[in-house]
Amino acid sequence: MATHAEHTIAGPAAAALASLTPAQLHFLRALPKAELHAHLNGSIPLPALQDLANQYLQTEQEDSDAVRASIAQLQAGVTLNEIHEFFGLFPAIYALTSTPTALAQAARAVLAHFLLPRTSLLDPDPASSTKPSSPDGKFPEAAYLELRTTPRETSAMSRMKYVETVLDEVERYPADRAALIVSLDRRMSADVAAECVRCAVQLKEAGRRVVGIDLCGDVKAGDMTTFEAHFREAKAAGLGVTLHIAETEDTPVAEIHTLLSFNPDRLGHATFLDTPMRELVRSRKTCIEICLSSNLLCKTVPVLADHHVRWYLREDHPVAICTDDILPFRNSLLGEYALLMAAPPLGLGLTEAEVERVARMAMECRFRLGSRMES
Ligand code: IMP
Ligand code: ZN
Repeated sequence: MATHAEHTIAGPAAAALASLTPAQLHFLRALPKAELHAHLNGSIPLPALQDLANQYLQTEQEDSDAVRASIAQLQAGVTLNEIHEFFGLFPAIYALTSTPTALAQAARAVLAHFLLPRTSLLDPDPASSTKPSSPDGKFPEAAYLELRTTPRETSAMSRMKYVETVLDEVERYPADRAALIVSLDRRMSADVAAECVRCAVQLKEAGRRVVGIDLCGDVKAGDMTTFEAHFREAKAAGLGVTLHIAETEDTPVAEIHTLLSFNPDRLGHATFLDTPMRELVRSRKTCIEICLSSNLLCKTVPVLADHHVRWYLREDHPVAICTDDILPFRNSLLGEYALLMAAPPLGLGLTEAEVERVARMAMECRFRLGSRMES
């Protein structure tokens, strides 16, 4: 396995981590956590992305300047005025993961980041006194990772080859550590979305470790009514369904109703559900994938005290605390849990017992559980 590339943590997650005691940090590190919402191309640790960029820039490319500028921007820390700016970050990253070799390298780095045990936490300042007191404790960021990615056709690979390449890396880990979710992008044509679902179903039926289908991408793009058939097919094949939903306040209510009518198993963000929608989600016990730093940095939630996770926690509704995209958001799974535990206003001030309960809920919401669990 590749060695860990270091990953810098900054922003709300770093502030929350820095406020915890060594005992609290040790508790969080030792807690088995499931990462259920991480996008491959948004989760490449920066040093691994820099390696990919160095390889890419060895030959002069048309977009070399744009790639250099994006790396510099990611290095300095991205400031977003609103969520739509976020999607502009990806073209330069995609240039670096467009061949099977580069994609495999990226996937391997992401999996290593989440799954390989490490001695010290991802501390923004390794010399600081916030280091855990237990020197021998080695814990991975995540006990289990459901990595998601959107199959891309490039001049060097088909969508099927894309998914197989990522799966080859996922399957280097045991089945109880890692699995793959295939994402459909809202901008996809019906034909391309159908092709992606076909890839996922075929690979699952061939015994490969695809466990679900996701809907993601620019919140303003696409007509969601056209996706119903794809999710129905995925469900019929025994794949879990998770949908990014209601990420922005201006999401049309009709769109949210359409997406909920697909009977998703999990929902990403679900920031702007009105009371009847929340009640529906509650009655179905649909797990909500919560990405605190992502919401704060994309400014869809102004402050933690206003975050919708508080309602779900009060209702003891299943939630999974997740990172979304550690590359632009400079967070970590540990940092997201620190946001639960740190005293307000840096965090939500949950007790250890409450945080433990939240971590257990995420484990229970894995797609590999229940009827979908395979040998
Ligand atoms: P990929 O699917 O591995 O290529 O990961 C990057 C992609 O994930 C982006 O192009 C977006 O489509 C998607 N993505 C990442 N974060 C979000 C989010 O918060 N909302 C919607 N889509 C997202
Ligand atoms: Zn996401």
